[in-house]
Amino acid sequence: MEILIETTTPVNTKLCAKYKRSFAYPTVTDRLPVILTSIIDVLVRDKNDLSDDSKTETKALIGELSELKYIMQTGKVLNHFTSNEVDTELWNRDIERLEQQVDELTFYSAPWLFVECYLYRRIREVFSLSTTLKDYDPFTDKKVAVLENSLPAIKPLMDNLTENKILDSHPLKTTDLINEFIKLIKNCLWANRVDLSLSSGRMENCCAALDIDAWDSFILVNDVEKVLDLLFSPGESEGTKKIVDYVMDNSGLEILCDLCLADFLVSRCKVDHIRLRVKRIPWFVSDVTRSDLKHTLHRLSTIDSSLCQFFAKRWQEYLDKGLWTVHDDSFWTLGLSFDEMSTYDSSLYNSLSEAFLIIFKGDLNYRKLIQDTNWETTTPMSEAVGRFRPAPFVALRTLKADTIAGLHPGTAAKLDSETPDWLVSGKYGVIQFLEKQ
Ligand code: F6P
Ligand code: MG
Repeated sequence: MEILIETTTPVNTKLCAKYKRSFAYPTVTDRLPVILTSIIDVLVRDKNDLSDDSKTETKALIGELSELKYIMQTGKVLNHFTSNEVDTELWNRDIERLEQQVDELTFYSAPWLFVECYLYRRIREVFSLSTTLKDYDPFTDKKVAVLENSLPAIKPLMDNLTENKILDSHPLKTTDLINEFIKLIKNCLWANRVDLSLSSGRMENCCAALDIDAWDSFILVNDVEKVLDLLFSPGESEGTKKIVDYVMDNSGLEILCDLCLADFLVSRCKVDHIRLRVKRIPWFVSDVTRSDLKHTLHRLSTIDSSLCQFFAKRWQEYLDKGLWTVHDDSFWTLGLSFDEMSTYDSSLYNSLSEAFLIIFKGDLNYRKLIQDTNWETTTPMSEAVGRFRPAPFVALRTLKADTIAGLHPGTAAKLDSETPDWLVSGKYGVIQFLEKQ
């Protein structure tokens, strides 16, 4: 492929797999093909249990997924979408826009953020155009397994919440409340280390206990005080409805920690309504969809543990009463950064503008927040997010991609010399807050 360049991504440029010394390059060359192969393997494994009609169709789907892998690896031109999914037109509009910027739009010439999202939308397309596997989620097995593996790790957190009456109306000193909030937020941060797309779907040691006290030195920016100020100081928002938009990421341990934090927000922080923002389609292997959330609560309710059943019942009641609502807008599964939200989906942008706080989970949301650009690492968040300023937000992200903003001077240079893979290993994290403009 002539287009490949033997450098890292230039500064102030969008990440792209054409830069051979960027993380995008091995992702497109090695990691994404492994993910596609694992879907093919699952279909091959399961096809013998299907009826003859489904068996024939599954063989065709395997062929299409293999072709997709070929298109990706050999840098062939990206196709438009034809299914009648709600976002087909938006996706095609965006493909056309990018086609005008390059000679040939391929997995190597288009921005990494776009092509990685495109791959998952393409996988959806393959199933969506089928007759027998329309709503098939090829990652279900993995998400179910990771949830099972996560249960021992979540238990101490749940135990603490119940034994110490953290979610009750029982009076607690403000310092204790603040400490509990800090613990919850750190659990939510570090649970993002468990990510099946970074490990190309492998699950070894994925759900070890979260040793939050030992990992403080891995938090590169910690704005938790600013979040506390917003949540616990009486301010002008007194009297207005407090809405939190919780933009979720992965299933398994991460969603369990997220729901504990969401519970604390309604139980102890006078939050009136939490909108859980999930993915409309199977996404980046482990991202939560509506049905993953449903499965999570169902699974908790069937475990032979009063603790798990307690939380399953409590959280289901929040959903039934509308204290928590679930939303799966298409925008989250487009290949666009959030800077473009007001143009492509003004109604979602306006809805987020009602929030008292937005919580963004994970690496992909972070990449979309800062426009997937190789910023100078000290670039202020306020600059990196561009036009995206609907409401105050906090981003909880472990670093799994070579882009970051808002670091303190000297941090990047120190890490570059000590731990060259610090940006992509998933070991480091940030808790970054940005107030409303
Ligand atoms: O593969 C690219 C990537 O964005 C990685 O940076 C990360 O491994 C993964 O996808 C998504 O991570 P998360 O689940 O934290 O959004
Ligand atoms: Mg994810």
